[in-house]
Amino acid sequence: MNRSWTRSHILGLADWSAHEYNIVLKTASSFREVLARRTKKVPALQGQVITTLFFEPSTRTRSSFELAAKRLSADLLNFAPGSSSLTKGETILDTAKTYLAMGTDIMVIRHQQSGVPHAIAAEMDRLGTGVSILNAGDGQHEHPSQALLDLFTLCSLIDSENPHLELLKEKKIAIVGDILHSRVARSNIWSLTAAGANVHLAGPPTLLPELFANFRLDEPSSGLVKLHWDLESALIEADFVMTLRLQKERMTDQLLPSLREYHQYYGITRERLAYCKPDVKVLHPGPVNRGVEISSELMDDSKISLISAQVTSGVAVRMALLYLIGTLRDED
Ligand code: NCD
Repeated sequence: MNRSWTRSHILGLADWSAHEYNIVLKTASSFREVLARRTKKVPALQGQVITTLFFEPSTRTRSSFELAAKRLSADLLNFAPGSSSLTKGETILDTAKTYLAMGTDIMVIRHQQSGVPHAIAAEMDRLGTGVSILNAGDGQHEHPSQALLDLFTLCSLIDSENPHLELLKEKKIAIVGDILHSRVARSNIWSLTAAGANVHLAGPPTLLPELFANFRLDEPSSGLVKLHWDLESALIEADFVMTLRLQKERMTDQLLPSLREYHQYYGITRERLAYCKPDVKVLHPGPVNRGVEISSELMDDSKISLISAQVTSGVAVRMALLYLIGTLRDED
């Protein structure tokens, strides 16, 4: 199934090929079938050790990586910074080397600083360890597994039997909210433009700087990126709306007058969706500030909201990623 997969680390999507996206979508699709069976487990990574190192809080990403590892029959180690030797002054690199010494094969890393998973990957390569690193979100930089599960959710909605990248060609996708602080937005811009979708970013100028117009693949087949400081023009005829959490923990300045005002201008509500295509669907990576970036009522409307579908997709997609990098060594 993964004969042509060559990547040992998954750090970001900026340099991914259409072929790689399609391998992930296809593999995730077959794991979705596994997850629908009575016995939802396969022996694919039996004997391998997967360690999750989350230096930042997480509900969905951490739990779905853990469940994915278990469903692939791997042994799972869990690093929790609050109760670890980090509190005694151990460095992150030394922490990673400790888990290496215990025989870890794959490390899934989330850190509040951009570049930490890359630095650990470089050290693992320098030492010739063969350990793979999966970035589960680094600072404001990238969150590849989230963008891939978003992609899988969207493509599966269009063709559940055969989700593939090309299904999103020329679709209009609005990404709304705190783009500046969002690693989810950055990774999604890479994957969606690679699919040929046109990405319309909307948010207040303080949370959507002009430099985002340069974020697109330098390829003729790539979709466009357009910036909007008013919500309506981004929503007109949109096929999908992805709304993002206001990342209050990352805001160092007063970037917004108030949450109430933000909701008034940029909150997604049923009335505002009237600008979009009639069968528009709304995504949100979670966690949601109910009534701020999206109205509470819309969030719970299962005909429009894909939020639960995204969480469900997360397990199959993360199984696919762990499987692809975890079986790479078998083919050496
Ligand atoms: C996102 C994250 O951590 O970047 N959440 C997630 O992984 N599901 C988005 C967020 O925190 O708002």
